[in-house]
Amino acid sequence: MQLQHSITALRQTLTGRGRVAFVPTMGNLHDGHLTLMRTARQLADTVVASIFVNRLQFGPGEDFERYPRTLEADREKLHAAGVDVLFAPTEKDLYPETQDFFVEPSCLQNLLEGEHRPGHFRGVATVVLKLFNCVQPQLALFGKKDYQQLMLIRAMTRQLNLPIEIIGVDTVRAADGLALSSRNGYLSPTERAEAPQLAQTLQTLKQRLRAEGFTQRAALEQEASATLDARGWQTDYITVRRQSDLQPPEADTEALVILAAARLGSTRLIDNLEV
Ligand code: PAJ
Repeated sequence: MQLQHSITALRQTLTGRGRVAFVPTMGNLHDGHLTLMRTARQLADTVVASIFVNRLQFGPGEDFERYPRTLEADREKLHAAGVDVLFAPTEKDLYPETQDFFVEPSCLQNLLEGEHRPGHFRGVATVVLKLFNCVQPQLALFGKKDYQQLMLIRAMTRQLNLPIEIIGVDTVRAADGLALSSRNGYLSPTERAEAPQLAQTLQTLKQRLRAEGFTQRAALEQEASATLDARGWQTDYITVRRQSDLQPPEADTEALVILAAARLGSTRLIDNLEV
């Protein structure tokens, strides 16, 4: 596997490499990330991964400084997963001058994660467009774990006419149901034991929605949130939305997804479940 830091060297490496699949990450890789890599391996001639902790998508007081940076271990994992090229730019490589141009995801950025993390999706969309332009892939893979992010990237790709196929990959979970995340490493042993309750609460809400009916939606959402809070969580939201645009559903014939974000101690976890 080749490691490239500069955009020029990356582009040289990638000329004449056939169909390129790209998996952007912020590193500290776990099996969720590696599943994206392995899926990419089956779909393309060349697999490119990137590792870049993007300051632009972190709000003030969020975990940019303490976000785990583990390049050496990540390199070995990517090599073992069959990745051909790792692009790991420095901030100077990717933002050599003050960034004056941004991708504004107007509608999605005020919703759910966007509402709780102002500026987050603008930072994500901007860096992903920049990374797409560096790598110029035919395919790019994103996890459904970050459901709204996947929607945002799909919408950006469509509306800006990027010639890239976006592929969504199912969430990879630990044996106890907790969605794998780099942020799980922040959890104390007690918090780690409690953390699967987030996925459990989504499952329960899904079952009750089926049993008690769509009209009970608001009450069930509230109960789910209160259940988590009573266990010591601080729930930002737990809500049933339609898959197509993440707006509140109007009929039970629509394909639905339950999305949640909640803090356990100082760690903010997100998860979702398609209904
Ligand atoms: P990061 O959190 O490192 O995630 C990189 C990719 O891995 C994302 O597409 C994410 O959805 C996927 N992923 C994370 N955990 C997963 C799991 N348990 N199962 C399946 N896929 C999982 O998301 C980002 O980085 C950044 O916002 C980025 C897109 C790189 C832009 O900076």
